[in-house]
Amino acid sequence: MNLEKPMAQKLIDMAIKARDMAYAPYSGFKVGAALLSKSDKIYMGCNIESASYTPSNCAERTAFFKAVSEGDKDFLAIAVVGAPEGENINRLCPPCGVCRQVMMEFCDPDNFEILQLDEDKNVKSFTLKELLPMGFGPKSLI
Ligand code: THU
Repeated sequence: MNLEKPMAQKLIDMAIKARDMAYAPYSGFKVGAALLSKSDKIYMGCNIESASYTPSNCAERTAFFKAVSEGDKDFLAIAVVGAPEGENINRLCPPCGVCRQVMMEFCDPDNFEILQLDEDKNVKSFTLKELLPMGFGPKSLI
């Protein structure tokens, strides 16, 4: 983990807070995210579902789209936590494939860190490259 431990813990704590805002009446699975930009701002996000299911948005993408829509496009790390409503975080919540692809658009795969809490409440860090090997990104088009 490149990130300093107190910052990693702060991101996890903010992701847990963001999860309180999750709108997940259909799956009942609440997710929170906290995205750290290189300008030291933290963007929180939650999953937002829809009665027609398809338009649902993951917590990670909510955080990314908030940041990009405010002009921030350079990122260091994201913390993601998730569990069924009414339960505390007691498992890893790895980002879905669509969110990994969005990360690939804006982040350096070798250095961008994805933080998770494991069953024992230890913070685990994975690089984007670990979670999306050989990803297709902006550089692939050149
Ligand atoms: N979800 C996220 O928000 N992020 C993830 O990393 C995995 C899944 C959401 C999507 C849906 O609202 C619910 O969790 C169940 O899949």
